[in-house]
Amino acid sequence: MTREEIIHRTAEYVKDEFARDSSGHDWWHIARVWKTALALCKQEGADVYTVELAALLHDLDDWKLSPSAGGKPVRAEAWLRQMGVDPALAEHVCEIITGLSFKGALVETPMRTLEGQIVQDADRLDAIGAIGIARAFAYGGHKGRLLYDPDSPPRMHASFEQYQKSGSATINHFYEKLLLLKDRMNTPTAKKIAAQRHAHMEQFLEQFMREWEGGEF
Ligand code: ADP
Ligand code: NI
Repeated sequence: MTREEIIHRTAEYVKDEFARDSSGHDWWHIARVWKTALALCKQEGADVYTVELAALLHDLDDWKLSPSAGGKPVRAEAWLRQMGVDPALAEHVCEIITGLSFKGALVETPMRTLEGQIVQDADRLDAIGAIGIARAFAYGGHKGRLLYDPDSPPRMHASFEQYQKSGSATINHFYEKLLLLKDRMNTPTAKKIAAQRHAHMEQFLEQFMREWEGGEF
């Protein structure tokens, strides 16, 4: 199979797997991350094939969506093997997928390679800005969470376990993760885009609180 064929078949496989997701991780999230990662790749000059495979497969074994995988990219690995992808390349793609996820405000998530940094940036750009706001509330609704609870302040999680256990209101997620992402971008291009998306979230939060507190009267 050619690289083009493998990418095409991988996209079809992932599209089918994510078709019915209602947690903000539907196929269009994957498609946006794929497109953003390709755009970053052009700017930063990384290996396109690795970036595309990792972007397409990055949420297949995510701990939030597939808890039984235990954070290991088991399905991604099996798929890459089935497609006959070179084992060293498959290993690199799996390394990227494993390191990608945010794991708490005080937990570092370094990426060894430029390809990994690009896919992590693309995934994180999709978590902020207008789309990030929409996805956060979609996820909160999916998990049965409150929009906002003034009685439970945000917490800066020091371990992945604490972060995973947190079931707090969606507004807290902005302080616990989304507003921290602009300073955790890897590439200069993503940093620039993140600054603008960040400003949009800050405006949204200001307006949200103004309406909540009746400040318009
Ligand atoms: P990551 O692996 O870094 O978490 P994902 O692509 O899996 O990235 O998607 C993360 C998105 O899931 C967040 O940006 C947010 O929209 C949503 N999400 C995750 N946890 C929460 C939460 N506790 N409250 C609201 N949204 C959440
Ligand atoms: Ni994702």
